Amino acid sequence: MPLVTMSEVLKESIDKKYAVGAFDTMDRVFTESILNAAEKKGVPVILMIVPPVLDAPDADLFMSYVVDRCRRSPVPVALHLDHGPSFESVVKAIHYGCTSVMFDGSSLPYEENVAITRKVVEIAHTCGITVEAEIGHVAGHEGNMLDGNVADESAYTTVEEALNFYKDTNVDCLAVAVGTVHGVYKGTPKLDFERLQEIRDALPIPIVLHGGSGLTAEDYKNLVAHGVNKINFFTAMTLAASEAVRKLMEKNKKLMMTDIIMAGQNAAEEIVSEHIDIFGTLPLSC
Ligand code: 13P
Repeated sequence: MPLVTMSEVLKESIDKKYAVGAFDTMDRVFTESILNAAEKKGVPVILMIVPPVLDAPDADLFMSYVVDRCRRSPVPVALHLDHGPSFESVVKAIHYGCTSVMFDGSSLPYEENVAITRKVVEIAHTCGITVEAEIGHVAGHEGNMLDGNVADESAYTTVEEALNFYKDTNVDCLAVAVGTVHGVYKGTPKLDFERLQEIRDALPIPIVLHGGSGLTAEDYKNLVAHGVNKINFFTAMTLAASEAVRKLMEKNKKLMMTDIIMAGQNAAEEIVSEHIDIFGTLPLSC
């Protein structure tokens, strides 16, 4: 089972009430951590590319490796653009082989977000590509993700907004704001499960949770029980990998570069693997 669309990866997640992990990569190390974890569990996974990767001088080379690696995977993998800032970024991601794209117009006025998302949906659906968009706003990815962030309750998604946005754009899955933030939390997150359930009951498409790092196992389980189908996860991978490298370097004065890389890769794989279990991801039945 190779590279598939995100709609394919998520197609059973609403009925069977589970979430699929969506993990960001910018390099070969995290790409291998993420895919190895999913392959050992035998479950689908969403590999997310962040926009700067597509603007880097080696974008061609890196994306050829990523696409080829996903195609060779024995599990269904969706290759997704995370937080595409513009129509152009989405077109670029499709050109590089992404099977799914997010256009993030969540900081724009409603009408502008709708207008660009509709354009994205038109071109992406013509190419058989899945589209995710966001209504309401999940804070934190604008600044330094490691500084500590607090959710802005005034930007939580309302059920009316979610439903109108879905009807106005025909997106395939929708990211909503219900109390999570990107990066490290300042204080304890205030998750609005009631609001999430109302959105779940109103929407026929998969719901996406951004800011998936730093919650308790119970939080994740409750979020999934109240309707989340895709959980974006990155900060905790980065922290786990850097902590493993720090510990290794503290203990050893002289190290091979491969030892350092593998310490980071293995720590990231371990945390991805743990979270795949917590999210309850199941293999596709057909
Ligand atoms: P975290 O920063 O909580 O890992 O969230 C990542 C994310 O939502 C990427 O889109």
